[in-house]
Amino acid sequence: MSVAEETVGKPVMVESAPRQAQPAAVDVKDVAVRFRSKKRDVTALERIDLSVPMGEFVSLVGPSGCGKSTLLKLVAGLLKPSSGTVRLHGDPVTGPRHDIGYVFQRAALLEWRSARRNILLQAEMRGMPADRARRRADELIAMTGLRGFEEALPHELSGGMQQRVSLCRALLHEPPVLLMDEPFGALDALTREQMNIELRRIWRETGTTVLLVTHSIAEAVYLADRIVVMSARPGTITEVIEPGLPAERDYTETVGRPEFAHATARIRRLLGSAAPPPDAAE
Ligand SMILES: Nc1ncnc2c1ncn2[C@@H]1O[C@H](COP(=O)(O)OP(=O)(O)OP(=O)(O)O)[C@@H](O)[C@H]1O
Ligand SMILES: [Mg+2]
Repeated sequence: MSVAEETVGKPVMVESAPRQAQPAAVDVKDVAVRFRSKKRDVTALERIDLSVPMGEFVSLVGPSGCGKSTLLKLVAGLLKPSSGTVRLHGDPVTGPRHDIGYVFQRAALLEWRSARRNILLQAEMRGMPADRARRRADELIAMTGLRGFEEALPHELSGGMQQRVSLCRALLHEPPVLLMDEPFGALDALTREQMNIELRRIWRETGTTVLLVTHSIAEAVYLADRIVVMSARPGTITEVIEPGLPAERDYTETVGRPEFAHATARIRRLLGSAAPPPDAAE
């Protein structure tokens, strides 16, 4: 059986011994996040242990408000944990990190800039050498099927194309770690599938470590090596699922495999049994 055994309610370490020879790309140890305000205290995350080896693709799924975005922000250094440690390639994360790429739910493109110039914004902000940035932008444009649309403005692009521009922008500086927060949530089902296929291919070409937050169980399973299932607030890791799908994943063939069905059914069960979050503060 390739799907992890029942461990509901217990935090699960995501590491396995043989992969620990070099520092993990992302290493989160016993992390908790509490938000305190005059009105309420919210424990967003508790007892989070997550170790992601370099080059792995991990999906995060869980009910709304369970702390998925909070977890990505911790890894990016945009937020400090209340307790515990976060490391990127062995270095403690103490502030905003430049060695990551971040893709948000909405493409967030500048309306007055062409697709290429939106992608190159990343280079301008980082002071990357212009030649290298342009070369890399052209490679990514080709890789994501945007050739011919380099000079188009965002409003001249479809939602899927805009999201591809946003992906190119996040990948321009060749970040070793890519964080994606519901990147395809606004797309229709077919475009989303197409983007999943492209993302999987790009990930295999670049070798980047990816943490993807998604509400789509199929997307989570199709794309990832492992799926981290989280509980309702306070978010803990309920189970880590390793479906054991082959590296080569034709979409239709993959979603028809028994391992795929097994993993999606397991996640659905886990999410179905997650208690709804209380509306007031804990
Ligand atoms: N800056 C903040 N200040 C106070 N509370 C916050 C802050 N950011 C997040 N929270 C709270 O922490 C909890 C987790 O939020 P988070 O955005 O991480 O959830 P999520 O899993 O990404 O949800 P969704 O799937 O709806 O995007 C929520 O209860 C939210 O209200
Ligand atoms: Mg979120």
